[in-house]
Amino acid sequence: MKKEFDKFPKNFLWGGALAANQCEGGYKEGGKGLTTVDLCPAGVNRRKVMEGKIDVLKPLEDEYYPSHEAIDFYHRYKEDIALFAEMGFKCLRVSIAWSRIFPNGDEETPNEEGLKFYDSMFDEMIKHGIEPIVTICHFDTPIGIIEKFGGWKNRKFIDFYLNYCKAIFTRYKNKVKYWMTFNEINMILHLPFMGAGVRFEDGENELQIKYQSAHHELIASALATKLAHEIIPGSMIGCMLAAGEFYPYSCNPEDVILAKEKDRENLFFIDVQSRGEYPGYAKRFLRENGIEIVFGEDDEEILKNNTVDFIGFSYYSSRCASSDPEILKGQTAGNVFKTVRNPNLKVSEWGWQIDPLGLRITCNSLYDRYQKPLFIVENGLGANDIIEADGSINDDYRIEYLREHIKAMKEAIIDGVDLIGYTPWGCIDIVSASTGEMKKRYGFIYVDKDNEGNGTLERRKKKSFYWYKEVINSNGENL
Ligand code: BG6
Repeated sequence: MKKEFDKFPKNFLWGGALAANQCEGGYKEGGKGLTTVDLCPAGVNRRKVMEGKIDVLKPLEDEYYPSHEAIDFYHRYKEDIALFAEMGFKCLRVSIAWSRIFPNGDEETPNEEGLKFYDSMFDEMIKHGIEPIVTICHFDTPIGIIEKFGGWKNRKFIDFYLNYCKAIFTRYKNKVKYWMTFNEINMILHLPFMGAGVRFEDGENELQIKYQSAHHELIASALATKLAHEIIPGSMIGCMLAAGEFYPYSCNPEDVILAKEKDRENLFFIDVQSRGEYPGYAKRFLRENGIEIVFGEDDEEILKNNTVDFIGFSYYSSRCASSDPEILKGQTAGNVFKTVRNPNLKVSEWGWQIDPLGLRITCNSLYDRYQKPLFIVENGLGANDIIEADGSINDDYRIEYLREHIKAMKEAIIDGVDLIGYTPWGCIDIVSASTGEMKKRYGFIYVDKDNEGNGTLERRKKKSFYWYKEVINSNGENL
């Protein structure tokens, strides 16, 4: 059949994205154990906990933990999936909470109640013709194994993770084809506790620990890829990058090389997962920073032989790099870390820059580099929505953001990029990962809950709900 080069492919996976830790709640139900996110409070201490700078392994009385109830997806997934189906979703990205399957992380046999829960969730999706896209670990490592073994800096974590993978691949092999091994694997550099259960003591060489932990995750990811291919023939295993091209602030070569280095800090992970080896620039970085990664005897081979099938990534914005100390003073917020403010871009209410063209640029860079199918598994605008007197929510700003990004995706497809799907983040309002807020909303569906945890949890369709439904219905033609 002739391919139309200026249209979204016929089988394009339109959908939305969620993560267990931000939507499920039920944090102690069904035998679930505690995970890293269950210990990340809302408010001023959140960031320090996520960074591993406050050492707590139990919830504290005087803190509020938004993940504990979240939006109660644990009990309401049927109703919510029906709403996604009403929008015409072809796929839904969810994550499995590791500690529902292995409450402490090191049990030999999985928790049947946890397995049953996801059986039912996947069945519900499949019933509606929605393809599950599953993140194996989205910011939620079980606390049990962190307490006993110290997080991903310990190589034993590879075995715990693989045991978990084996359980879920075996159980869901007839239901789930698309998997991603670690959400935003590069975030381990910025949120080591949330990303990898790593905490630091004063005076420790943090960079050494972060990169050794990352190495263990990379080996685990490669071995999980191998395992999935063995257990589920035809499965598609992806990596997941917090993406967003770094632009040089100026054409000063100092800015250009800096932007390249900043990009490589992130791309390092995907270079290993997709190309199967540590690139030269990474070896140089490690050498010059006195970091020595302990490699297992077969590690090089494991990485080489088990590369990913597709590149999943989140894109919220481009970033900017400058070598000029004056320019560096003008920073703005971004996905987890700050960036130099680009004067050509508008910013969201949370200071995240808005750059649809940057999505086309990022798609092209990733495709040029890896030549593998790309999947945009997160994108969207976090905004404070207002309910009008008549009960409607007119989120035109969100529609505008998504429309421009979808246009950019189409341009990338015309450029020749093999883009297989798009799952905007937080398709129903969920807890914000960086701030723990509810009022930073991304959804097409509003959830009645505030930052302090008050609200009925009632669901309400926003204007963008109807708009996105038509986008999917027209396969991206009616924007
Ligand atoms: C990504 C994460 O970093 O961005 C999500 O994978 C997160 O978990 C999303 O929620 C948006 O960030 P935030 O901080 O606005 O929730």
